Amino acid sequence: MQDLHNKIALVTGAASGIGRAIALRLAEEGMHLYLVDIDSSQLAEVVSEARRAGVISVGRQCDVGNLEQINTVVEYGLTRWGKFDLLVNNAGITYFGQTDEMSAEHCEKLLAINLHAPMHITRLLLPTLLSQPEAHILNVASFYGLIGTRRLAAYTASKFGLVGFGESLRAEYARTGLGVTTLCPGFVDTKLFATAPRSESRPFSKQPPAWMLTSPEKIADRAIRGILRNDALVVTQSYAKLAYFAKRFFPGVIDFANHLSRKRFGKQTIPPPTEEERRNAA
Ligand code: NAI
Repeated sequence: MQDLHNKIALVTGAASGIGRAIALRLAEEGMHLYLVDIDSSQLAEVVSEARRAGVISVGRQCDVGNLEQINTVVEYGLTRWGKFDLLVNNAGITYFGQTDEMSAEHCEKLLAINLHAPMHITRLLLPTLLSQPEAHILNVASFYGLIGTRRLAAYTASKFGLVGFGESLRAEYARTGLGVTTLCPGFVDTKLFATAPRSESRPFSKQPPAWMLTSPEKIADRAIRGILRNDALVVTQSYAKLAYFAKRFFPGVIDFANHLSRKRFGKQTIPPPTEEERRNAA
């Protein structure tokens, strides 16, 4: 998209962190906003903040992990606004810890919010987006959508999925006025990790180290640039770029590092067949 002024955006997860920062930057650019989040009180604050920029800003509470709620909110949005020019799929949650300790419920919820919701909202908005001379979809993935790592397996799976979804959409609609950008930030100073469920057995730190963190506002600036330039993939922060480079060109190095100080077990004995097993085999 070349011009955001007077256009209409739907932003999910707009009540805090990266979603909030993107919404406020879009308001500065003169975009009208339909903001969606599960947290209605925080959302109301962002809606008011955006209005101070002189744009029309409307908020709706929605659990994007629930397909019925997605349908209702999108339907209301299309009736209320008549069209959308930009969709920002941003809402997300994580789980931090041993995968063998993650509950089935949290795994399902994480995939519903991080991966299924963007797919459903996109599916529902594509007709209006494609009917505009220019429109855009911004998917907020993560550098964990490019590199697998320990203790974030479900999150990583959801973000790899989102990266693939964006890449496919971009190929499918390349000959239309629809642009698609996948944003892959490194660590950002938000409440994502602090509010995430964690495994019980090992006390992992609540927040990534300070030197690795950047502000949501910096990510929002880069996101807006990505939309205006129709960048396919935006990886932010130098360590994230370096890790992605290493993964692409020297995949063995990261795998080797992950296997350093591997636990060794003594030789295990396999029990011989019992009398009953011997008889059954005959
Ligand atoms: P955040 O926790 O500050 O913001 C997430 C927002 O999503 C919150 O407002 C929350 O209420 C909303 N949300 C959560 N579940 C929802 C649901 N079921 N329905 C509707 N809204 C829901 O976290 P942050 O960091 O701003 O996360 C935004 C996106 O950025 C996520 O997709 C996350 O995976 C991604 N990201 C975050 C990074 C970080 O280090 N914080 C790094 C890379 C990507």
